[in-house]
Amino acid sequence: MPNQFDVIVVGGGPAGYVCAIRAAQLGLTTAVVEKEKLGGVCVNIGCIPTKALLHSAYVANLVAHDAKELGIEVGAVKTDYGVAMRRSRKVSEQNSKGVEFLMKKHKVTVLKGSAILAPNRTVRVGKDEHQARKAVVIATGSRVKGIPQIGLEINKTTVISSDEALFLESPPKTLIIVGAGAVGCEFADIFNAFGSKVTLIEALPRILPLEDSESSDTVSKSFKKRGMAVHAGAKVKKATLAKDKAALEVETGGKNENIEAEKVLMAAGRAVNTENLGLQEAGVQLTERGFIKVNPATLETTAPGIYAIGDVAGPPMLAHKGSREGIVAAELIAGHHPQPIKYDNVPSVTYCHPEVASIGMTEEQVKERKLDYQVGRFPFSANGRARTSSETEGFVKIIRDKKYGEILGAHIVGAHASEIIHELAVARQNEYTVEEVDLAIHAHPTLSEAIAEAALDSMGRVVHI
Ligand code: NAI
Repeated sequence: MPNQFDVIVVGGGPAGYVCAIRAAQLGLTTAVVEKEKLGGVCVNIGCIPTKALLHSAYVANLVAHDAKELGIEVGAVKTDYGVAMRRSRKVSEQNSKGVEFLMKKHKVTVLKGSAILAPNRTVRVGKDEHQARKAVVIATGSRVKGIPQIGLEINKTTVISSDEALFLESPPKTLIIVGAGAVGCEFADIFNAFGSKVTLIEALPRILPLEDSESSDTVSKSFKKRGMAVHAGAKVKKATLAKDKAALEVETGGKNENIEAEKVLMAAGRAVNTENLGLQEAGVQLTERGFIKVNPATLETTAPGIYAIGDVAGPPMLAHKGSREGIVAAELIAGHHPQPIKYDNVPSVTYCHPEVASIGMTEEQVKERKLDYQVGRFPFSANGRARTSSETEGFVKIIRDKKYGEILGAHIVGAHASEIIHELAVARQNEYTVEEVDLAIHAHPTLSEAIAEAALDSMGRVVHI
């Protein structure tokens, strides 16, 4: 007889473990299958350790460049990536242990090993068989990928991914980063602060191509000012790898350029983990792009009783999107009627310095849809709180629907952008107008006042400029 559970979740990352907790809260007996550490990529080799390293990078820059102005003399600044790396590992381990604790607290059974689906909602883990009475939830996430077609297969020495970068003892002297999405920009920030000579290569015409072009331009300028080489609209044509260096032939600005570095960090997207799960046999179909085909209203796959959430279920491949899907999937499985997920209201944050945060449409998308809109902007250079901390780089930009005042999109570049974006996430979730955002009194002096001012600016009533 197989072990019986109501729900079996395959994958213990932020989608899977959150789903398991919610299922347990709703009285369902639940198991999570995990072959590595609980917390998944996010906790162990993603969001959490990178943010720990980005904090070290931030402090390194603060001490090196701003301390004196703040009245603090520290002498020559020396950085040590190994120390920062080990601290980031401790933070990750604490978080992973935290997830273990949460599983115990909610009486979720953790099954260690690789899961394979078998008929009738049966899940094999090693020699054991487990059966889910109500549902199996696939939350197996994604992994790094190289581009073997141009000779950039990840070999873990000269061509590395974030997986290896997070464990280096020392920063490479020279580093080429291929891809300037969130991963590329965050590691560019980190290694620049720790002394690597960083070259960032992006195939599309601008870095952070999914963000508003004003956000991309601001980060690009900031990175260049800090000494990084930024090539957007650049194509890697060929890679030649030696034992301790890599040479890339890059087409940039109509010319071919040879760029050499001690290491190449691949940050050109991730591949989803759909292999060796028995998906085909279980009747779970994939989309043309290789994600699991999911009904967005029910989060069910093409096989009844099998759900998919998180990165495997399609973009945006973000931890918080996966966690929300986890909660909603558990509630649907328990027979509840949760609010549908607003996929157009998932905040996006890149934690490089300056931070970039956004929600809703970019101005480019608003234009494409031929919507009638007004833009409100407010620079942090005119914000009192930003001045008090000498962090005046960046802006808030709000795109307002001209007729109804709907917040079509909002974009923030600057200190704590990742934190203050949520006012606009709440506003959009509840369909508040731009006027209503300003009507809420914003404490003074705060960075959030820049949001109220951008709201006012979109109506032609900005106060402080
Ligand atoms: P991404 O898809 O966001 O960015 C990859 C970038 O590489 C794109 O801009 C793409 O145009 C570029 N690219 C692709 N092929 C290229 C080539 N041959 N040469 C030059 N550039 C090329 O993927 P990324 O940054 O690897 O992140 C993976 C996933 O993880 C994304 O969904 C991302 O949003 C998520 N993530 C989120 C973070 C956050 O929320 N802060 C942090 C890290 C990752």
